[in-house]
Amino acid sequence: MERHIQTFLNKVSYLAITVATFTLLLVFLFQTPPETCIDPIHNPNHKPHPRSSCDAAHRPITTISKKNRRLWSTHTWRKSVDSFSAIFHDLQTLKHISNRTHALIVSAGGGQAVMSLKEIGLHEITGVELVDSPPLVSRADPHNLPFFDGVFNLGFSAHLDQALFPWRYVKELERTVMVGGVIVVCVEECGNGEMNEVLKLFRKSEFSQARNVTLMGSKMTMIITKRIKVRS
Ligand SMILES: *[C@@H]1O[C@H](CO)[C@@H](O)[C@H](O)[C@H]1NC(C)=O
Ligand SMILES: *[C@@H]1O[C@H](CO)[C@@H](O)[C@H](O)[C@H]1NC(C)=O
Repeated sequence: MERHIQTFLNKVSYLAITVATFTLLLVFLFQTPPETCIDPIHNPNHKPHPRSSCDAAHRPITTISKKNRRLWSTHTWRKSVDSFSAIFHDLQTLKHISNRTHALIVSAGGGQAVMSLKEIGLHEITGVELVDSPPLVSRADPHNLPFFDGVFNLGFSAHLDQALFPWRYVKELERTVMVGGVIVVCVEECGNGEMNEVLKLFRKSEFSQARNVTLMGSKMTMIITKRIKVRS
């Protein structure tokens, strides 16, 4: 090969390498989400720009949150969240919850109770349901909770009546809530006789208080129990 052609080809390949390097660098820079890439879940007012790199980096979450924004703006959803807020405010007044409470919501549905506690100012809320509803609710079987013993201060359920094995359901709540914590269940409105039947399921808690409340449009009895230490 002629020398000048060789030199020319070398120059071309150097240029190609340089261009490739720059391209890679640019791709890398634009793929890194900028610091302004705020999680839309924690900042509902944040509307992601459709062509931003946030969108590209978190496409699945964006899709979910768009769906959620629609759900969360419905009248039914708002009413439901507000009805939970009313009873959680009660629990706050009774000093059963504070903003440091680590709460577990079992049978959390779409996450109305989770959202309500978030709005009240709790930072640590875990919602579980047989079918997950990200980001508020993850999937877990209430009869077999995937948590260590005594990690929550509050266990809450509005669906104990529908449990397949109520004794097992309560047992798991008692296992995961620490001694000194509270377990609150809302069941179909009932008198003392039926309430005592429900309380029989609780082996490691003592009765604290009961109130008749309206939750999601239904009359219910809220039973508050305190998790106590028992010798096994
Ligand atoms: C938690 O509640 C206390 C008093 O109720 C309040 O002083 C404090 O600012 C709250 N902390 C947060 C992080 O909301
Ligand atoms: C709730 O209402 C029922 C009647 O529907 C009543 O028997 C019961 O005592 C009430 N419970 C409380 C805690 O007020």
